[in-house]
Amino acid sequence: MSVVVRREGAADVTAIHELNVVAFDGRDEEADLVDALRDAGDLVLSLVAVDGTRLVGHVAFSRITIETGSGPEGGIALAPVGVLPPRQGFGIGRRLIETGLDELRRQGESVVVVVGNPAYYTRFGFSTELGEDYPCVYSGSSYMALHLSTSEHVPAGAVRYPDAFGLVS
Ligand SMILES: CC(C)(COP(=O)(O)OP(=O)(O)OC[C@H]1O[C@@H](n2cnc3c(N)ncnc32)[C@H](O)[C@@H]1OP(=O)(O)O)[C@@H](O)C(=O)NCCC(=O)NCCS
Repeated sequence: MSVVVRREGAADVTAIHELNVVAFDGRDEEADLVDALRDAGDLVLSLVAVDGTRLVGHVAFSRITIETGSGPEGGIALAPVGVLPPRQGFGIGRRLIETGLDELRRQGESVVVVVGNPAYYTRFGFSTELGEDYPCVYSGSSYMALHLSTSEHVPAGAVRYPDAFGLVS
């Protein structure tokens, strides 16, 4: 298998939508979420995993607002991430997420939040305990945060997700 991870291009948009429908058991909420984030300009980083000409995985990172004591600051939400079912369990999800986190670190981002299974996301350093510093509508046992920066100034406070997340139940 030679899978390449790269940024999405304009020609990938339809294939990304279709991949997310398949990865999420035929439901279109996650696929529509990615389209809505892109349309709203809230998609900070969108990566595809490609095997030859076939798109086999995708991850989206979007802009959240962190309401700190000294005003709003930016952070990142990871969602959704999806891999074609026959290609799951071979490290494609890991490569998409790790490549994305490395790129966001290079871009100077400091906080990423995610909603998902802690058994998976703690592998990348996400923590439910740290998630408590970023309360939001998704707070709970599946809500986690990760600091990309070791700087002393890492924003903390209530998180507001982009409006497009209202599409997802
Ligand atoms: C979640 C997903 C993106 C992971 O991608 P992947 O390429 O299959 O994952 P990787 O190969 O990097 O990692 C595989 C490991 O993650 C575990 N894993 C995968 N999905 C998991 C989940 N939802 N919860 C917990 N563990 C999970 C596997 O059991 C496997 O564990 P192992 O290393 O101990 O064998 C993929 O399984 C997928 O598309 N799932 C359907 C869509 C989905 O649920 N997305 C996540 C929404 S939060």
